[in-house]
Amino acid sequence: VRVVLLGPPGAGKGTAASGIVSEFGVPQISTGDMLRAAVAAGTRTGLEAKQYMDAGKLVPDTTIVAVVQERISQPDCASGFILDGFPRTVPQAEALDKALAVLSFEVEDEDLVARLGGRRTCAKCGAPYHLRNMPPRVAGVCDKCGGQLVQRADDNEATIRKRLETFHAQTAPVAEYYRKSGGLLVRLDGSRRASEVQVDVSAALRRAC
Ligand code: AP5
Ligand code: ZN
Repeated sequence: VRVVLLGPPGAGKGTAASGIVSEFGVPQISTGDMLRAAVAAGTRTGLEAKQYMDAGKLVPDTTIVAVVQERISQPDCASGFILDGFPRTVPQAEALDKALAVLSFEVEDEDLVARLGGRRTCAKCGAPYHLRNMPPRVAGVCDKCGGQLVQRADDNEATIRKRLETFHAQTAPVAEYYRKSGGLLVRLDGSRRASEVQVDVSAALRRAC
């Protein structure tokens, strides 16, 4: 399986990726997670990326393409991987020359604002939660590992709206790019419950491989 998860911020790409990892056993490559790790570690890439992430803008293509190419050349990616958050521009899609199944998640902007505002993530294992839609059993504590749930720095309303603007201007054309390239592009209604979306994701991937 070599899959691209495409969609606006908060559409459920990370949530779907966790499901695919458990079902298909291939690594999840989240460019957002990799950049946040680089910011936390204070690397050169992290220092460069932080200013763009805080502003709701995209990190330059050359930077992110280098990060992804290095990651997918690792041995654990030989039999497949899930790209969550890459490619996000047409030049990034062109840099990724492999044939892939592309799942495109579609959700209205106002739903996305509500989802991202309520999102919490486990600081220890990365599991995604939502204060209303997917609350943990104990407030503030991860069901899976007992880690503490935290809110992302870019999940405030002003930055969320800027990220949506960036998505419509720069990432929406990527779906059109894949549609024209004649590969497998599956459009999913991401506004449904996560469990329903997951059923479609699994079915699409079983068809693709
Ligand atoms: P990134 O980390 O990729 O953030 P994003 O695209 O904004 O996406 P999110 O992780 O916010 O959303 P998601 O779709 O994964 O949603 P989730 O499943 O968590 O990127 C961050 C930044 O890094 C970018 O702004 C950019 O600066 C930079 N960057 C990253 N990649 C880059 C690239 N390729 N090029 C350049 N720059 C790059 O779900 C959201 C919430 O909703 C959760 O709380 C979840 O529990 C809930 N939820 C999920 N599904 C459902 C459902 N079906 N119903 C109800 N609630 C749901
Ligand atoms: Zn956890």
